[in-house]
Amino acid sequence: MTEELLVYIDGKYYPKSEAKISVYDHGLLYGDGVFEGIRAYNGIVFHLKEHIDRLYRSAHPILLTIPLTKTELTEAVLKTLKKNKLKNAYIRLVVTRGIGDLGLDPRKCPKATVIIITEPMLQLNSPEALAKGITTTITWVKRNPVDAATHEIKSLNYLNSILGKIEANNTGADEAICLNKTGYVCEGVGENIFIVRDGEIITPPVSSGALNGITRAVIIRLAKKLGYEVTERNITPNELFTADEAFFTGTAAEVAPIREVNKRVIGAGKQGPVTKRIIQEFEKATKDPNEGTPIQ
Ligand SMILES: Cc1ncc(COP(=O)(O)O)c(C=O)c1O
Repeated sequence: MTEELLVYIDGKYYPKSEAKISVYDHGLLYGDGVFEGIRAYNGIVFHLKEHIDRLYRSAHPILLTIPLTKTELTEAVLKTLKKNKLKNAYIRLVVTRGIGDLGLDPRKCPKATVIIITEPMLQLNSPEALAKGITTTITWVKRNPVDAATHEIKSLNYLNSILGKIEANNTGADEAICLNKTGYVCEGVGENIFIVRDGEIITPPVSSGALNGITRAVIIRLAKKLGYEVTERNITPNELFTADEAFFTGTAAEVAPIREVNKRVIGAGKQGPVTKRIIQEFEKATKDPNEGTPIQ
């Protein structure tokens, strides 16, 4: 029998089938908590520091105290990977409000619950879909506004994204795109979005309501290094339909070319030359030890 993966919960390790938390945890009852999705490539945890920093930044506005220092949490992530002998992995780091009563008041939850799940590398889009580009649909559900349960916070409240995903599923598209309340393109349901027009690379600003993606930041840096002009500005749906190229970025999605939006073909309807160059550069970055933290 193959050994079961171990899951970290509050400093202890449990076999995956026994890794359970209380039904009174407010992460379950109210989606009250924060999380990170992280990848490790060839023994290097890609931008672990940035993910840890963002987790604490997500916890701050919701007044959630993470009961570990950043160093302790980083060590716990690395130890979990080591225990599971994983070098190429998808890591899910979750901090919930912890156990409380049935009311929603967070003051009833004395201690946050910290969970670290590590799994062998996840492939979100099939290699064929990535080569051809994926199909998308703009959903009727608008991105949460920045003065509400904003996606700038990577919280456990993903119903907004799940509604988008359901819409993509119902229309037979691979993925959904969310507009914000003012009608500008915001992001995917778990990805940031970029378009290419006349050689310029454009992505919506974080103030559109999108998550400040770590892959997004890496892609902006790599694209600039390659000599592309990169602009952060609002994008209209029409600009997306008529773009030369479009692609998603994200920890799970990596760089995913978009070939169709609501049945409008984007550019040549396949992975475009700029996207191709970006994918090559991103793949190089995932192999670069300077782009992360070693597991050893
Ligand atoms: C809503 C949302 N936008 C964008 C992203 C991409 O962010 P990152 O590149 O940090 O994974 C994610 C994934 O975590 C997400 O959930």
